[in-house]
Amino acid sequence: MALKDTIQSLLTQVQSMSAANAEELEALRIKYLSKKGEITALFNEFRLVPADQKRELGQLLNQLRQEAEARINDLKEQISNQQSAISNVRQDLTRTPDPIALGTRHPLSLVREEIVDIFSRIGFTVAEGPEVEDDKHVYGMLNFAPEHPARDMQDTFFVEKEMGVQKPTDILLRSHTSSVQTRVMTSQKPPIRVLCPGRVYRNEAISARAHCFFHQVEGLYVDKNVSFADLREALLYFSKEMFGADTKIRLRPSYFPFTEPSAEMDISCNICGGKGCSFCKGTGWVEILGCGMVDPNVLESCGIDSKVYSGYAFGMGVERITNLKYRVKDLRLFSENDVRFLRQFESC
Ligand code: PHE
Repeated sequence: MALKDTIQSLLTQVQSMSAANAEELEALRIKYLSKKGEITALFNEFRLVPADQKRELGQLLNQLRQEAEARINDLKEQISNQQSAISNVRQDLTRTPDPIALGTRHPLSLVREEIVDIFSRIGFTVAEGPEVEDDKHVYGMLNFAPEHPARDMQDTFFVEKEMGVQKPTDILLRSHTSSVQTRVMTSQKPPIRVLCPGRVYRNEAISARAHCFFHQVEGLYVDKNVSFADLREALLYFSKEMFGADTKIRLRPSYFPFTEPSAEMDISCNICGGKGCSFCKGTGWVEILGCGMVDPNVLESCGIDSKVYSGYAFGMGVERITNLKYRVKDLRLFSENDVRFLRQFESC
């Protein structure tokens, strides 16, 4: 093909060039305009053209090169416009500039919710009450005699009625959530089936094993014909759900003013499976809660006829259950808010 025809045919090709993206465009540039490109090759051929044709062909060749360069520049602009249109669509101007750092749920909240969830499956609902309470609801109605040493035993924080004036007072920070049970029993008629989760306070020096506040979940069931066997079944069900189907329980006689008979419950050590290890001090058992049949005096003081109704109650420390489940041995970790500790519960 004569040089002129080749130039004409390339000119039509160049005019109809199209590219969908930057890679395709670069391929076109290489095809036509790079050192080994088709247009560059024509310039080499041009050197051999007879002198009388040089003027005409030279003009044509220059036109071809300019058109190719112009077309490639146009396509480049088109492609970058398309891309910014796409990124504009993705932009949400109402978003905050930085990704929002999500927090994690506190291990005690996780465990409290799990306890509540397990008992809710057998009909328990949640009741809450005040943390600043009166003596009547925390002790008096729960069968503690007026001078009962348990008030000291539980190391109660009393609240001064008048700021700065030390006076004997019956306002205190609740030392157990049994106070919520007395409130529920005085305001509702049986059948009653409630869980009382919440924070409690005791005047103890802060160490790895004791704190001046901690968390409890207590439970109460009052109805006709509620028996100790019902209590045992409910606690066995809870222990298996919480610590695994192989978990065994054992009830040891104990004493609480508000329950009779009373017991403390152990579960088979969930580390060694009951064989005995350093965690359970070789016994195979670990204590997790207190429980018993609601003392008839308590039912009566709350206006419930103890000849018609009976009930069971239990109470456990959320920190204790969390320690067993997640091996958090130092109680202080729960309230120090160290994110390195808290982040370990991200996937729980
Ligand atoms: N209130 C008791 C405590 O704080 C726990 C408990 C609740 C025991 C109900 C028996 C029955 O230690």
